[in-house]
Amino acid sequence: MAAKPVAPVPGRRPGTGRLVVLVSGSGTNLQALLDTIAEAGADAYGAEVVAVGADREGIEGLARAERAGVPTFVCRVRDHATREEWDAALTEAVAAHEPDLVVSAGFMKIVGKEFLARFGGRFVNTHPALLPSFPGAHGVRDALAYGVRVTGCTVHFVDDGVDTGPIIAQGVVEVRDEDHEDGGAALHERIKEVERRLLVDVVGRLARNGYRIEGRKVVIQ
Ligand code: GRF
Repeated sequence: MAAKPVAPVPGRRPGTGRLVVLVSGSGTNLQALLDTIAEAGADAYGAEVVAVGADREGIEGLARAERAGVPTFVCRVRDHATREEWDAALTEAVAAHEPDLVVSAGFMKIVGKEFLARFGGRFVNTHPALLPSFPGAHGVRDALAYGVRVTGCTVHFVDDGVDTGPIIAQGVVEVRDEDHEDGGAALHERIKEVERRLLVDVVGRLARNGYRIEGRKVVIQ
C-alpha cells in the first residue's frame, strides 16, 4: 500500500497537513503536538490540529483542545444502537474535518471497518509498550508483570487488529526495580515522556516528507 499524507484538498495551502487527534484521557500527547505546532508554526512543522475528537465527555484532553481554540467533537458508543453505527458516526465526524492524518493519542476504543476503510494507511496510534509485545489496554502493566527490563512505546499505523499495524518508530525505557511498587504509574510517566517526543517527531516527519507503507515497513521519504 502506498499513501501520501498530504492529500490535495481544494483551497488548502500546500504542505500543511490537517490532523484530527482522538483522545480519551489526559491528552498530554495532544498537548505536545499543540505546543510544538504553536512554537514552530504549522508551516514549519508541516501540519496543524484541525479538530480533536473523543469517545467521552469531561476529559482533560478535550479541555486542552478548547483552551487552544481547536474545535472538538464527542462520539460516545452508548449514544448509538450498535458498535457499527458508532463507527459510522465517528467516521463521519472525523471526515467532516478533512484530515490528512488521524492520530489516536490515548484513544481507548478499537475502531471498526468503516473507519479503517476511510482512514486506513493514515491512522496513527501510539502505544505504551514495545510492540508486538504487550498489545491492548494494559501494555505498561503487562510488561511489568512479565518482568521485562526494558519497555517503551511504539508509534504505528492502525490496521484491523489490536496494536498490530506497521510500526513507524519505537522508543526504549528501562524498567527500574522500584517500578514494581506502584503498579507501573511512574514507569508509565517515564514512557510518556519518550512517547510525546516520538509522536511529535513522527507525525511531523510523515506530514512534511510523505511516506509509503510497504507491507510491514514504513518508509518516510
Ligand atoms: C499514552 O501512554 C498512550 O500510549 C496510552 O494512553 C496514554 C495517553 O496519555 N494509550 P495522554 O492522554 O496523551 O496523556
